[in-house]
Amino acid sequence: MTLIGLLFSILLPAMAQQPPRLVTDFTNDWRFASGDYPAAKDKAFSDAGWRTLNLPHDWSIEGQFSEHHLTTTQGGALPTGIGWYRKTFTLPATATGKRVYVEFDGIYRHSEVWINGHSLGTRASGYSSFRYDVTPYLTSGPQVLAVRVDNSAQPNTRWYSGSGIYRNVRLVLTSDVAIDQWGTFVSTPVVSEKKATVKLQLTLRKTSAAPERVSVRTRLLNPQGKLVAEQEQKNNLLKDSVTALPVPVQLIVASPLLWSVEQPDLYALVTELYTERGLVDRDTTQFGIRTFRFDAATGFSLNGKPTKIHGVCLHHDLGALGAAVNVRAMQRQLELLKNMGCNAIRTAHNLPAPEFLDLCDRMGFLVMDEAFDMWKKKKSKRDYGLDWDQWHRIDLETMVKRDRNHPSIILWSIGNEIREQFDSTGITIARELAGIVKALDPTRPVTSALTENVPGKNFIYQSGALDVLGFNYKHTAYPDFPKLFPNIPVLASETGSSLQTRGHYDMPSDSVRMWGKPKGDFTEGNPDWTASAYDNEAAYWGSTHEQTWKVVKKYPHIAGLFVWTGFDYLGEPHPYPWPARSSYFGILDLAGFPKDVYYLYQSEWTNQPVLHVFPHWNWTKGKPVDVWAYYNQADEVELYLNEKSVGVRRKTGDDLHVMWRVPFEAGTLKAVSRKNGQVVQIREIRTAGKAAKIELLADRTAISADGKDLAYITVRVLDEAGNLVPDATHLINFDLAGPATIAGVDNGYQASLEPFKASYRRAYNGLCLAIVQATETSGTVRLRAVSEGLQSAEIIIETKK
Ligand code: GAL
Repeated sequence: MTLIGLLFSILLPAMAQQPPRLVTDFTNDWRFASGDYPAAKDKAFSDAGWRTLNLPHDWSIEGQFSEHHLTTTQGGALPTGIGWYRKTFTLPATATGKRVYVEFDGIYRHSEVWINGHSLGTRASGYSSFRYDVTPYLTSGPQVLAVRVDNSAQPNTRWYSGSGIYRNVRLVLTSDVAIDQWGTFVSTPVVSEKKATVKLQLTLRKTSAAPERVSVRTRLLNPQGKLVAEQEQKNNLLKDSVTALPVPVQLIVASPLLWSVEQPDLYALVTELYTERGLVDRDTTQFGIRTFRFDAATGFSLNGKPTKIHGVCLHHDLGALGAAVNVRAMQRQLELLKNMGCNAIRTAHNLPAPEFLDLCDRMGFLVMDEAFDMWKKKKSKRDYGLDWDQWHRIDLETMVKRDRNHPSIILWSIGNEIREQFDSTGITIARELAGIVKALDPTRPVTSALTENVPGKNFIYQSGALDVLGFNYKHTAYPDFPKLFPNIPVLASETGSSLQTRGHYDMPSDSVRMWGKPKGDFTEGNPDWTASAYDNEAAYWGSTHEQTWKVVKKYPHIAGLFVWTGFDYLGEPHPYPWPARSSYFGILDLAGFPKDVYYLYQSEWTNQPVLHVFPHWNWTKGKPVDVWAYYNQADEVELYLNEKSVGVRRKTGDDLHVMWRVPFEAGTLKAVSRKNGQVVQIREIRTAGKAAKIELLADRTAISADGKDLAYITVRVLDEAGNLVPDATHLINFDLAGPATIAGVDNGYQASLEPFKASYRRAYNGLCLAIVQATETSGTVRLRAVSEGLQSAEIIIETKK
């Protein structure tokens, strides 16, 4: 045993009693009041009359929709304003002699934080993460943290932002010599099948006055948690408060398991710091070993394997839960996308919650992490453009430092559709931003989502600062890109903006409507603010899903695409004005119910057999109805109406669907897909009769009693025979018994003005949703759904510790 090894063995038992770093969830029991209370920063202020709640919290989502809210429908038509949060807490005895930090993952927006009446600082961006050292201001007895959140300057966003401390908060206790926040940077400069070099660059923080000598011990654990390499680095002298260790730690892993979309293996690096006093800090960094490359001619490859990016753009709201972060809600979104064959996410147009990136690492998604929707030139009257000069460097550095250990991230985006691309300031700013990124992470390419595809007119392109060009829309120009932009990889960073309402069908389906003319002269549209779920409508600057995917699929030089968007989101209800209040662009609706086009992608992007036939089969007699089918793994589909064949269809050329035009007759529509004459799949849709009963389906019937976990309950309105009634709009009342609450309700209809926080919801096109949230008590939860004239239903969810 080495001397240091001996020291470790003596110190280990002591470590077990006194954890060197204590990270506590700091989200429970906050007080909240909407409005402005300047005196609330003071310790003595009484918040007795305020509401008690747990974070993450978004006060906007609790409000009522109104066209008079300052956000406008573009921002979601929900209330904003100013709000205050306070938390009174007592530090544990273990805090004596420690540094105490409060970490915020994100507050929307313009926050100021005080401890015991001392201002700790302000933050403008609503998406950035930050921490404060509260140690100098601690007093004996209870401590009081106060946070003012100011989202009153409107409009400041082009989509729904939410308001409040909508992400997680932690209390972190460290020794006076510790690993700095985001102080580990793990990269893998050499990767082969035989071995990988893992490099750790470490930044330490010292708050004691005297110089210190520290030793660093790193242990590398494989995905099974087994030690595969370790190293000690002794005697580093720390003189300054922040010190980057001059020599990085290098470890070798033999036969590494590579992180991939299919098998997202994660390694962990445990870093320990020792001073003469013994162990002073220990932190674990998860990372992945993988290589990737963007090539101007052949596109993207992961670990040497050509991989088309099958991505979607996502805004951060979680539908009925608003912006308030919930890990299960994000995981459900990613599960639904994974099942569709999606392998990549663009975090439009801001830093996501850190837990979102953890999920992407664990579930195998590639990520384009995006910093800004605007630079100095604003897009909305009171947006971040006003904060640009003061904050952009800090916020961009935050993104890279915070996120650079995530193997999922393959691109840093310095902005979306930035207005400076049209003038020479685009050159200076793009170079400055790319420089900031590269100084902190030279391992990943820098991109930006551009719109100007005339090279001479695009100053961001001309800056030479981008490694990969992202282009939004303009799919007809993709074939020309290698000529227009030679020798630089290109990605379709945003595509589609196709418009759909789940379960609504406008015919004829074989002509495409491009909606919402530039000058706001919107006159087309349906009286009930619906769009067609055939893939036949799009914003005038966009395309249908099929139009773009066909081109991306065809050209290897297009590295892939990010469809706008995976899910409908609150705000931006283009092309409709009020009372539409959420977007129509999603492949899934706001409640997470797939629209038909979900199966187009599933048929193209997965190996699962797919035969999806639509629309529903309730029309007026004789009406010519367009029947579409998305299918794969078969060479033809035959359609039968009441057992009579209406014809065989085959996709030819680059077709992505087949269609029949069938005069409606009530009964059964049956589709049969065949390969070489053998039946692959059969699908039937029957004409539904009168609505008779409710069916409840849970995504999971056992959840954790941790106060956060969710069960998503789908409500289906059925006829007597069990067919979905495709136009049912029944008002469903929920009755919940047991240790849980209803966290939100929805039906995915973009113009519903019912509140999300309620115990009732109207079905829309046959479906609605209740989101049940566990409390911290375990037990049996019964959700009953009742509606006049329908047989009610009940479902049981167990919540377990
Ligand atoms: C894009 C923009 C997105 C969204 C989309 C809607 O131009 O980047 O944020 O607004 O249009 O079609």
